[in-house]
Amino acid sequence: MSGPVPVPSLPALEDDVSLEHANQIFWSSLLDHVKADMRGPVESILDVGCHHGGLLVRLAALLHPKRITGVEPAPSARERSLFRLRQLAPAVTLLPPERWGEVPTASVDLITCHEVLHLVADLPYLFHQISRTLRPHGTAFVVAGCHTENPVWPRWREQLQEAGQAVVDRAPFDILRAGIDAGLRGALRPLRRDGWVLYDPDRAAFTYSSAEELLDHQYRHKLLFRFVKQP
Ligand SMILES: C[S@@+](CC[C@H](N)C(=O)[O-])C[C@H]1O[C@@H](n2cnc3c(N)ncnc32)[C@H](O)[C@@H]1O
Repeated sequence: MSGPVPVPSLPALEDDVSLEHANQIFWSSLLDHVKADMRGPVESILDVGCHHGGLLVRLAALLHPKRITGVEPAPSARERSLFRLRQLAPAVTLLPPERWGEVPTASVDLITCHEVLHLVADLPYLFHQISRTLRPHGTAFVVAGCHTENPVWPRWREQLQEAGQAVVDRAPFDILRAGIDAGLRGALRPLRRDGWVLYDPDRAAFTYSSAEELLDHQYRHKLLFRFVKQP
């Protein structure tokens, strides 16, 4: 009698689905900014903290790049990303942050990074690698809502710490300075400024104490930083 067919040990999809579902509206706004700001063909894209590759899937559908790179510390997340992305570009590479140095200098047109910086201990290293790998005039779009000027952050930080995450307190100007110190031209704005906000106060993973706090997070405190590589 034959036994059960072995299945590759990929992690449960639940977290992936709920995180990606919650992020779609923010990724859509990010893609709108990419479309508005990027000039010329985008042949090479890199996402920092790509998790299971959902944002890269959407960027690939929009831009049809020749090269896709995901930087992600979790091996299971890299594995799932590679599986989803493998047919979306001729070259697809998934790397842990400590191997980012393998990406050739001045080779990437577009870098994205969505809600990762509050987990990054070494911000100068991250911006050094962004600056090194961007081609001249290449652009990095970095989204951060988990920062010290956001009134929800102390509550969310505690929640993340209780779940065992190591998190870092960062002010928006810390982020701006780190990019500028790495040789990039920095700018910022709210990621989105209008549109419907779907929210269920009784079932949300990360909560708000009032409608005002919810809308302030969505339209004011969730920041988009744009860093352009100087020639
Ligand atoms: C909150 S999730 C966001 C994932 C994804 N960017 C998104 O929009 O859904 C943060 C991700 O950053 C990754 N991460 C943590 N530390 C990192 C680091 N030093 N460099 C790059 N990614 C990191 C985590 O493993 C996780 O996948």
